[in-house]
Amino acid sequence: MFSRSAIRALAAPSSRLFSSSSARQTKVAVLGAGGGIGQPLSLLLKSDPLVTSLSLYDIRGAPGVAADVSHVDTASEVKGYAADQLDEALEGAKVIVIPAGVPRKPGMTRDDLFNTNASIVRDLAAAVARVSPTACVLVISNPVNSTVPIVAATLEKAGVFDPKRLFGVTTLDVVRAARFLGGVSNANPADTRVTVVGGHSGATIVPLLSQSSYGKTVTGDVYDKLVYRIQYGGDEVVKAKDGAGSATLSMAYAGAKFANTVLRGLNGEKGVVAPTFVKSPLYADQGVDFFSSNVELGPNGVEKIHPIGDLSAEEQKLMEACIPELRKNIEKGKAFVA
Ligand code: NAD
Ligand code: LMR
Repeated sequence: MFSRSAIRALAAPSSRLFSSSSARQTKVAVLGAGGGIGQPLSLLLKSDPLVTSLSLYDIRGAPGVAADVSHVDTASEVKGYAADQLDEALEGAKVIVIPAGVPRKPGMTRDDLFNTNASIVRDLAAAVARVSPTACVLVISNPVNSTVPIVAATLEKAGVFDPKRLFGVTTLDVVRAARFLGGVSNANPADTRVTVVGGHSGATIVPLLSQSSYGKTVTGDVYDKLVYRIQYGGDEVVKAKDGAGSATLSMAYAGAKFANTVLRGLNGEKGVVAPTFVKSPLYADQGVDFFSSNVELGPNGVEKIHPIGDLSAEEQKLMEACIPELRKNIEKGKAFVA
């Protein structure tokens, strides 16, 4: 039924998604591991050769997910933790990925999740501050534009905030941009990489198509539709799932991909660069002190924040729409903790 090459690819599932330079002992914790993202994300992290120990926590279901994932024949150890075992789950973690919280239903914006997810994320961040204050924290829970400032402010309150170690995961926007540009250009997404900057919701998502060799040839109506699809790709999935949640599988892929990028940086690999939402000076003079752009990752987390480069006239307009909305989202997160 399968060709020999297909069988080889299935037998080595980590080869395409993960890249591994040198192996070091790294414990990764997933908070929200029992959920729609958490389960496939945990599976993919089990396949990452840079993860040596996997700690799965959720208020429900994590021990079951851990028992299941632990049978996969890779070297890492897996442990599941129940609702009252958060501190044990975080003990010794170098990287903590947070997909805990509720997803959208049709008709909702990501900001509509704020009331529920803000306190979930704040409480998890308080535990991180207490137990593993030097870990890298990767925030998936929405609204990312506000939950990242919430985590920052919570860590800051506890006196342990290191801006080099906090990341909002915007990788799904980058994955979508490559995929959708590949579609309109009739090219392999591996060749249609796009830098996506700003934040992670609607108008705050700004794809820099002019900086991509394929992207800069897209114009007119096709350009407008492509930008819209990248900005509102999340809505497509929410609508198609019809009340059963939002993107989980593509998000797990994107989350595992970004975690691998952070791990490669921590392991000392040079030249590891990816867009991510971090504390950033790029638009701080306009009151936007968290911003997603290309970031170089290293042994301490953020090594260097790259400038965004030249923008086309269309991208300048997109940026003008992004900045005020992003500022509002960031302020809302900060105000919640203050
Ligand atoms: P889900 O409801 O399937 O899973 C969420 C999990 O979080 C559940 O298992 C729940 O028990 C757990 N949880 C709730 N409170 C918790 C707590 N205090 N501690 C630990 N675990 C807790 O939802 P999902 O589809 O996995 O989505 C999770 C979040 O990720 C949502 O906020 C969603 O909007 C967001 N998301 C972000 C992106 C992105 O690109 N950053 C993409 C997709 C989804
Ligand atoms: C996404 O982009 O798919 C996620 O942020 C989930 C959502 O609510 O759209």
